[in-house]
Parts: sequence; structure tokens; C-alpha cells
Amino acid sequence: MCGIVGYVGEQDAADVLVDALSKLEYRGYDSAGIAVFEDGEIKVEKCQGRLDNLRKKMEEVGKPEGCVGIGHTRWATHGEPSDINSHPHGNKRVTIVHNGIIENYKEVKEFLVGKGYEFVSETDTETVAKLLDYYYDGNPVDTIIKVVSEITGSYALGIMFADYPEHVYAVRKDSPMLIGVGKGENFLGSDVTAFLKYTKDYYLIEQDEICDITANAIKIVDIHKNPIKKELQTATWDVNAAEKGGYAHFMLKEIHEQSNAVKMTISPRVKDGMPDFSETGMTKEELASFRQIYIVACGTAMHAGMVGKYVIEKLARTSVIVDIASEFRYRDPLIGEGDLLIVISQSGETADTKAALALGKERGAKTLAIVNVVGSSIAREADMVLYTNAGPEISVASTKAYSVQIAAMYLFAFELAYVKKAISEDECRKYVKELLEIPDYITHTLDVKKDCQQVASKLLNADSLLYIGRGLDYALSMEGSLKLKEISYIHSESYAAGELKHGTISLITEHMPVIAVATQKALIEKTVSNIKEVKARGAKVYLVCGESLQLEEGIADAIIRIPEVDEILMPTLCAIPLQLIAYYTSVLRGNDVDKPRNLAKSVTVE
Ligand code: G6P
Repeated sequence: MCGIVGYVGEQDAADVLVDALSKLEYRGYDSAGIAVFEDGEIKVEKCQGRLDNLRKKMEEVGKPEGCVGIGHTRWATHGEPSDINSHPHGNKRVTIVHNGIIENYKEVKEFLVGKGYEFVSETDTETVAKLLDYYYDGNPVDTIIKVVSEITGSYALGIMFADYPEHVYAVRKDSPMLIGVGKGENFLGSDVTAFLKYTKDYYLIEQDEICDITANAIKIVDIHKNPIKKELQTATWDVNAAEKGGYAHFMLKEIHEQSNAVKMTISPRVKDGMPDFSETGMTKEELASFRQIYIVACGTAMHAGMVGKYVIEKLARTSVIVDIASEFRYRDPLIGEGDLLIVISQSGETADTKAALALGKERGAKTLAIVNVVGSSIAREADMVLYTNAGPEISVASTKAYSVQIAAMYLFAFELAYVKKAISEDECRKYVKELLEIPDYITHTLDVKKDCQQVASKLLNADSLLYIGRGLDYALSMEGSLKLKEISYIHSESYAAGELKHGTISLITEHMPVIAVATQKALIEKTVSNIKEVKARGAKVYLVCGESLQLEEGIADAIIRIPEVDEILMPTLCAIPLQLIAYYTSVLRGNDVDKPRNLAKSVTVE
């Protein structure tokens, strides 16, 4: 989704802003722009398309020269991607960049048209720029306070007032924004990766705090103009973690980082061979007392929740409902006191997941956030938080974030099963030990790269395919299928193998490849029968299974064999070939693997 950056210092602002925007490209965008004070005047350059288009444009017409400015990558919501709709918006007096959605923009626009304002874009953002201009009385902070009291919706705003050429202003509500704190220079960023190259120190801007940033000072006040003192945060992410480091794509790099990411997530939560969730503040008695567990998330994080459901129900014998956040928030769910709501989110900023969390809290449930980004909204709003220490995930298609989310789900399931006495201490220790060994197995599993490349070469021209599996294999194939759709643009569906006969098998022809996952011993025979059924109808079948599985000759057109661990843990390894198949298919089709069309990494609007 949209990315915001800002700079105030002594460096060339246009260069810093474009560089910082390049670090936010992964969020997904369709146009970009910057505004810089040049000789006391606001100069704007913006255009549709990738940052390269903006760079080229500035090479042709000359970039704005100055040391203070704001920048933006836009992911269109109101109005198509176009030069005109790109940010910044405003006029010679006040210019802004915006992330979020202004819900009452039509009313505001009508009001401003009545006052004689003319609009050039279709964006909701332009109404805020014009409203700031309308109320501007020479005092930026007062003007911002007036405007935020009249707009509804979500916003992170970077603002420049022509009368204050050494200042950048910012305010946010329900959209994230941070201030990077440097020496003699300060930054704005939608997330830390924007300014990580320049500084690791930052302030988190809270709801409706108004920030006045110069090169040597940062003043923050609340809506009543009371000064706010902030605690300086320091990012633990390494600047190299947000670079490709020799890999062709971030996605491939992140697939390779999974072993370490899982280790960093699990190891700190194991004490003396047993799970240790004391950092969340949740007591064992409380954990054992929950009546119903809800796991709510979006996209890949929801798929991690599906794995969590199978594992928790199997081991802890506790009922788990997994829901898509955008459904949960509007379906008047039965959640209430005595329930536990687990929300899973890589970014910690997903609008629907945030709303689901708020609903769970309102209804009296206890809430636990499993989040990757430290200090993100969801992490701060939940009663308890468990950070997945995956480091920055840049590729839009999530890989390592999924692996750490399922790793956290496993550890949680072991602890819950133990405190509920569904498994013995010895059994719990055994599971924990096996989970701690998973990082090494992940490394070995990466050896399947060549096989995955070959399968990808067979899928290249397919219009559609099916992923099938049963039990945990089904939960996992949901993620495999999503991965393929996201980056290869080939339609696919994941289906519970046993359900095929009830309709979907009619789609099977020689043109519908099937990827089958079979790692769950008790279900393998059943899945093999389903494989035979689709093969008999002409489908090419590519099977992912354990290395020792005995199969009849010719059962599949290619078999990808992965190392074997306790079957309950197989999804931690099985995810890798599915990710790699999607990756290589996307590469072979010549797609932009890390920045697939139409997608955003962090979906901060509904
Ligand atoms: C977007 C991303 C997905 C991600 C989902 C949830 O759709 O493209 O990769 O799984 O949002 O994001 P979250 O940050 O909440 O995990």
C-alpha cells in the first residue's frame, strides 16, 4: 500500500527521498512522486508507474534542488493510477502526501467546491490538501488540528507549508508512520526500512499526534497542543537484511532465510526444553482456561492459522475457529469473555486484522497478537504479543513470515496441550526438541530446488491448476496455491482431496495439472486414491511427499521428495517446495516476482 517518506537535513532531498521510496517499493504501488523546497518554493515531480519512471522524468526535466521534502508511492484506491492522481497533492502554499482513505471526502469536497476550490484529481487526498489550504492561518499545527477534526477515515500525512521551508509536518490515524531520528537530519517513513540506511533510531507516531520536524528538532503535540515526550526506539533489523544480498529476488533470499528465521522465533521461547511464553504475561492457568480459540488473519497469515487449527485441535483437544479477518469483523461472531483471539500478521498493520482485534477486545476476549513488525499497531493494541523474529520481509509474496508464524503456532499448541494435560511433559519435550531441529531440516529441504524448477517448467503454460491434500496437507496446499496465484498469475485452487468427487473433478482434463501433497501417514492411501482418480482423467500430477514413501511406478509425473520429520511438523518443510514451485514458475514466465501486479505487501486500508 502507499508509502510515505520525508527528509529534513543537509543532503540532497530528492536523492534521499527517492532512495527511501525504493525501500518501500515492496509495499506495492503504481505511481510515485516527491515534493522538495527549492529556493523556498514547493517543487513537485510525480508520475505514474515505477520509481524508475520518476527518476527518468527528473533526469529529463531536472530534479528539484533542496534539503527538505516529502515523497510517496501510491497504491490507487480513489481514482486510477495516473500522473494527475499521483501524490503529492496541493498547491504553492501547502502540499501533502497521504496513506489511507478519507471516508468523508465527498462531503469535504462539496464544502470546498462551495468555497470556490477547483479539483484536478479523483483522489480523496486532494480534499485534505485543499482543506489545509482553506484553514491555513499562518500556524501549521493549528491548521492541522482543525483539519483532522473534520476528516474521518484513516490517514498518515506528510505535509509541507511554503511559509516554513525548513519544516516537514506529519500526523497519523490508523495508518502507520515513524520519524527516523538522525544527527542533524530527520526522516519520515511508513516503516523503518525507509530510513534504516541512515538511522536505526526512531519515534513511533501515535494516533492524532502532530509532528513538526526540522533538521535539529522534533516537536510532537497531541490534539490539544500538549507537548508529548517520546521514548526513542531502536530498530533491531540490520540494513543488509533489507537488501537482496546477491540473490536474484527478495523472495528467493527470504526462502533461504527461513531456517534462521524459525530458529530466531523458536529458540528464545524454549526454556529447559519446554515452551516458555512468560514474555506474553499469560499464566498457564489462564491459558488452560480458554473455552474457544479464534484465529483471525488475512492471506498467508490466515493460512498459518489453518495449520495452527489442525495442530491445536489434534494435540490440545481445544476447539479452534479460523476466520478471514474481513469476514470475522462483519459477521457478528460469537466471541466473548473466556475466549482467546489470536490475530496473526506479518506487518501488524493490516486494516481488517486490526478491526477484528478491536472487535474481539470489545467483546471481552483475551487477545494475543503474533506479529513480525515490532511496535506495529496490532502489536501495541493486543493484550499480549509474541513477535516472530523473521526480520524484514520485502517480497510481497510472503514466505519466511509464514514459516515463523506456523513455528509459533506449533510451540503454542505444544504449550496449550501440555497445560491442558492433553499431552504429558515427556511428549511435550519430544515435540519441542523436534521443533528445535526443524531449522536444520529446512536447510536440507532447500535441496529440492532443481526438482521444483523442473515442475515449474511443466506448469508454465497452464491456465489453471489444482492443489490437493488432506488434513495438514490440505491446510498447507492452501498456501501453496495462493503463492502460485500471487506471483505466476496462473489460476489455481486448493481442494481437500476427498472433496474432489463432489464437483471439482469435472474440471480435470489433460490441461489441468494437479499438485498433490501427501505427508500425513494415516491419509496417504486416501490421497493416493485421489491421485489415481485425477490421473485416470488425464491430469499431470506432481507429488510432494516424504523421502521414504513407497509408491507404485508411474503414480505421478514427477515426485518431489523432502526430508521426513514427525508428520505433525511436515508443513514446516513442505512449505518450501510449494514456495519454490511458485517462485520458479513466476521467474520462467518473466514476471516481476517481488512486486506482483495489483498486490500490496501491507494492506492498510479496507
Ligand atoms: C497482503 C500480503 C500477504 C499477507 C496479507 C496479510 O495480502 O500480500 O502476503 O499475507 O496481506 O498481511 P499481514 O501483514 O497481516 O500478515
